[in-house]
Amino acid sequence: MKTKKTITDSTVDPDILAYTVGDDPVLDRDLVVWDAMGTAAHVTMLSEMKLKRPVVTKAEAAHVRRELGRIAAQAEKGAFEIRVDDQDVHMAVERVLTERLGDLGKKIHTGRSRNDQVAVDVRLHMKDAILRTEAELVGLASQLGAFGCASGPIPLVGRTHLQPAMPSSVEMWATGHAEMILDQLENLEAAYRLADANPLGSAAGYGVPLPLDRDRTTKLLAFARPIHNCFGASMARGECEAALLSALAQLMAVLSRLAEDLILFSMPEFAYFKLPRAYCTGSSIMPQKFNPDVLELVRSKAAQVLGLQTAALSLLHAMPGGYNRDLQDCKGLYMKGLVLTRTTLRILTKVVAGLTVDADRCRAAFTPGVFATDVALAKVADGMPWRDAYHAVRDQFAALYDGRPAEVASIDPDAAVAAKRHAGATGGIDHALYRRREAAALKRVATRLDALLSARKALFA
Ligand code: ARG
Repeated sequence: MKTKKTITDSTVDPDILAYTVGDDPVLDRDLVVWDAMGTAAHVTMLSEMKLKRPVVTKAEAAHVRRELGRIAAQAEKGAFEIRVDDQDVHMAVERVLTERLGDLGKKIHTGRSRNDQVAVDVRLHMKDAILRTEAELVGLASQLGAFGCASGPIPLVGRTHLQPAMPSSVEMWATGHAEMILDQLENLEAAYRLADANPLGSAAGYGVPLPLDRDRTTKLLAFARPIHNCFGASMARGECEAALLSALAQLMAVLSRLAEDLILFSMPEFAYFKLPRAYCTGSSIMPQKFNPDVLELVRSKAAQVLGLQTAALSLLHAMPGGYNRDLQDCKGLYMKGLVLTRTTLRILTKVVAGLTVDADRCRAAFTPGVFATDVALAKVADGMPWRDAYHAVRDQFAALYDGRPAEVASIDPDAAVAAKRHAGATGGIDHALYRRREAAALKRVATRLDALLSARKALFA
């Protein structure tokens, strides 16, 4: 039997190696800079341990950190190679450090396992990615806000059961979707807080007989706290991936509903909104076609992210305590979830920026029924009890529905929109509220991203 020698000095059958390595050499490219950061913090902490014989001296640690900085810079240019023989980023970095630094490179893994190492990498990568996702989410919300107010107040038929219901406006529709999107920051925040805890120092999941200073690496890596229990730290792998996927799945469901409204309202039968021609794709046989494929694919991506969340939880739910290799497969799931969600946020921002409104079509869609509730409420203003007013109007519409003659009152759509002035109604939408929420979110993102990237820069200095 042919076997292959790896850094762990075991010999593994090439087919078994390929199967167990899976997509790691490709997926782990996104982890190289974070792996280098984690190793820089670990080596710094090792050099500060009070031992009779230091594992590495402070000067050696500085040497390793500089080399890690070079590896990170190489990775950012796409020039750091992870080979199948390396198995993953962790052993690729150790191999390269050993090639460049000799025995010093062989010392960096002292008191550490790939189990706590990969958990750190994933959490650092995730923190960075969540923050960037949040900024993109805010970008879409503010684009919707701009779309809603761009052409002044335009009435839009509000629907329930898809049937005409009450007067709404383009502004209400757009900022309503924006608010749902901004609310998703709460779920992303929960995922961020879970990810913002340091598993480093838990080693294989049971600690090591060395005086590791876990608070020190927590500080160096800009984590909010360490995960205290070493076994707990190993159990937490996969959990924050699943939590993030859950937040992404929910966000995607919100985006999918936005896409669905856009598909509907840009159909020729509605034609309230229009997509730029360049955003529509054609048919190979029907020359008249300008299809909203881009929005249909938003629905499909939402379905896929939900599937990824289900896959992560399915992978976790029956796994025994401690590290199991199943966990490796969680990595591709959350990374795919991030890619699908972030590309969707960016494409929807572009679609919304390109949308135009046909104000005449919007106004022409108002049928008398849309004003029925307002008409009944006008009777209340004249002193009629609500239920009597309701029945009076209801009887007229029942007659119309049955094809009998009836006279129904109507209201001017613009007047109906302006008349509802209470908080959050068509005439009472507070745009400043959205601007404030967006600004606060962006400020928080910038502060956190700066803390993370400054910590990384400091470690490579
Ligand atoms: N690539 C592995 C993963 O993502 C690294 C950890 C391997 N640990 C182990 N005990 N085999 O899970």
